[in-house]
Amino acid sequence: MKYGFFDDAALEYVITTPKTPLPWINYLGNKEFFSLISNTCGGYTFYKDAKLLRLTRYRYNNVPYDNNGKYFYIKDNTDSACSVVWNPGWQPVKTTLDQYECRHGLGYSTFTSSKNNVEAKVLTFVPMNDNCEISKVTITNNKETAAKLSLFSYVEWCLWNADDDMKNFQRNLSTGEVEVTDNGSTIYHKTEYRERRNHYAIYSVNTAVDGFDTSRDAFLGAYNGPDSPDVVAEGKCTNSVASGWSPIASQQINLELAAGESKTFIFVLGYIENPEDDKWEAPGVVNKKPALKMLEAYKTEAAVDAALVELKNYWKELLSNYHISSSNEKVDRMVNIWNQYQCMVTFNMSRSASYYESGIGRGMGFRDSCQDLLGFVHLIPDRARQRIIDIASTQFQDGSAYHQYQPLTKKGNSDIGSGFNDDPLWLIAGTSAYVRETGDLSILKEMVPFDNDMSVAKTLMGHLKCSFDFTATHKGPHGLPLIGRADWNDCLNLNCFSEHPGESFQTFGPSEGPVAESVFIAGMFVKYGEEYAQLAELLGDDAEAKRAREEIAKVYEAAITAGWDGEWFVRAYDAYSNKVGSKECEEGQIYIEPQGFCVLAGIGVKEGLAEKALKSVEERLDTKYGVMILQPAYTKYHLELGEVSSYPPGYKENAGIFCHNNPWVSIAETVLGHGDRAFEIYRKTCPAYIEDISEIHCTEPYVYSQMVAGRDAKFFGQGKNSWLTGTAAWTFVNISQYILGVYPTHNGLSINPCVPADFGDFEITRKYRDAVYHISVKQNGAQKGIKKLTVNGTEVSGNVIPYESGVKEYTVVAEMG
Ligand code: BGC
Ligand code: NOJ
Repeated sequence: MKYGFFDDAALEYVITTPKTPLPWINYLGNKEFFSLISNTCGGYTFYKDAKLLRLTRYRYNNVPYDNNGKYFYIKDNTDSACSVVWNPGWQPVKTTLDQYECRHGLGYSTFTSSKNNVEAKVLTFVPMNDNCEISKVTITNNKETAAKLSLFSYVEWCLWNADDDMKNFQRNLSTGEVEVTDNGSTIYHKTEYRERRNHYAIYSVNTAVDGFDTSRDAFLGAYNGPDSPDVVAEGKCTNSVASGWSPIASQQINLELAAGESKTFIFVLGYIENPEDDKWEAPGVVNKKPALKMLEAYKTEAAVDAALVELKNYWKELLSNYHISSSNEKVDRMVNIWNQYQCMVTFNMSRSASYYESGIGRGMGFRDSCQDLLGFVHLIPDRARQRIIDIASTQFQDGSAYHQYQPLTKKGNSDIGSGFNDDPLWLIAGTSAYVRETGDLSILKEMVPFDNDMSVAKTLMGHLKCSFDFTATHKGPHGLPLIGRADWNDCLNLNCFSEHPGESFQTFGPSEGPVAESVFIAGMFVKYGEEYAQLAELLGDDAEAKRAREEIAKVYEAAITAGWDGEWFVRAYDAYSNKVGSKECEEGQIYIEPQGFCVLAGIGVKEGLAEKALKSVEERLDTKYGVMILQPAYTKYHLELGEVSSYPPGYKENAGIFCHNNPWVSIAETVLGHGDRAFEIYRKTCPAYIEDISEIHCTEPYVYSQMVAGRDAKFFGQGKNSWLTGTAAWTFVNISQYILGVYPTHNGLSINPCVPADFGDFEITRKYRDAVYHISVKQNGAQKGIKKLTVNGTEVSGNVIPYESGVKEYTVVAEMG
């Protein structure tokens, strides 16, 4: 069952009922100011950091779902006998609407609804170059007679630190402060501005208003929720000025619309920072100059429309970096629009703020952000460059790294610390992808601090050497890399041994044991060690490349011996040196990660192990909704394995379908030339392909979720944790670089598709460095192999289009077969 449809031409997903199985959300903002917005107008706003600078309140885990947002109430007073209150997004009043449509576009959302022949249209977006969210609200009277209406706005302020805001009531209920100007048209939220904060927020409308409220209790009534505000019921604002408690911003606009008449209002929710020495315009009165300037910029419809055009053009331009046209509509829509869009959202959010990540927990993940980079580097290489430097700055001198950092401070998060032994290698992955994309070797020579301490800086290449050496020098009894607290699978906690509830699996126990090893990290070391060696060669350091390859050979050997179980790769060795993910185990006999990653790294290909490993995956882990992470699921808690065995069977890391590593297996299949199978894996978790079962899948049909419940789960096929997942980047890498086969190498783009036999011909436009490539692939029914590659009319040998600086346009014809 579907709850909407894709409008590819408009680059939008159109939701046709507010009652989606879960809130279906969108992200607004591209630089520093962000909002989450659901299809019922729920959500919240923050500046840079969802924990430290939250503008509006949201209540996670609330009932009903998704309750708090930026709401507009329309009260129809035309006929006093049937006066009705409704919201354009249906929530929070939930009056049945005569018409409802939500369109989530790239960086904006629109809501079009009507009730009793009154139509409301709300367009919401964050403009490219200002720290504000604009809502353009148009009310149209479609009645045959004049309509009398009142429009009320409502936002609830968060007292900045979202964590403290929901805990520290003894203080916070006394700190709230506001200022009101223009009889309520503009409301300033200035809590803590009197002391150490130099920022405030505004909520303003570009018209004279008929009243306002800034006290939540005055607006709602002490025992009401936003579904039944007293003020709206009474039809009259109280002009309350908050002092402590819970400040809000609400305006009332009374309207009389002739039959057929429309009126438009522009609401601006903004964030303003003032210089320390220019905070006040009078004692106790905030300096409003920058706020007025912001409001001036968006006071007309024309200005707002122009800002929207600018935003749309920005996205059009971004997405033109990689564009496919094939006979397969679903692939085209995911590749051209939604997959790349989600990659950009993960660039902005890492794992910090979604409807499943509360914004106060995890900041930017070291491994997460490095992997996200693989998916957006072709879109925003300059910002990727800065991101790499920021991430590398949280590395320690021995090569290990803070597992997370806060986006606002860019400082490593000491609560979680380090000890996740895959982290260092992901830095090589991200940097290599950046250099292959851009050819910019200067980044490798950039001086980058360790733990943000510039006095101990090394070049970025020096950091990568630390990463490489960390793994090379932290090996266990089988010559495999030590796992530390965990590797990519955060829940494989082989040194944790937690016996008491509440202990964090991520931080409890010794961070490193001398024994527990990871075959997955071995796969990473082979893959990214080679990429490191290539970077060393590019810098002319052949000796270092040689040394690296000698180290890699040792780990390769360990992976195909101690790391091989007979039919598949072992997952790990635990703290007692027992195998994890082996036929010797009672449960958890086979894990997906080492099969995917070792094979994509090329391990076991020439020995014939790779074929076997992938066959085992197909036989033991595959389902109709994707490939499960392990089987059989753990039915009881294993002290020696940690969190992985804490989940009920079928959920999360305990035998869920973890979408993130499905692409690894799909890529592995392309390495072996299995186009049919690679695509089958791609298709099973692909949102556009499972749109039809939205009532089972539940999460948004336009983006990937971290996890789909596995076969052992009661709700097999149900998605959770949508949006912020490495699935976005890895899927884009898989489809764009391996299945469609346009892979950036240091010497130029390589063209080597691996597609299903019936895929058909396709064309790709790819911007790469300073040129545009028009690539036309003639498939000839082949799954893999290029028999002829022509570049600008000349046949070239091999798969790589030689990169020539200065050439701006390449016309490429690739004939498969
Ligand atoms: C989850 C993992 C996640 C980790 C991070 C665990 O509970 O299952 O997916 O990476 O928490 O904190
Ligand atoms: C989600 C985390 O963000 C990611 O870092 C981790 O690799 C996966 N869960 C698997 O545990």
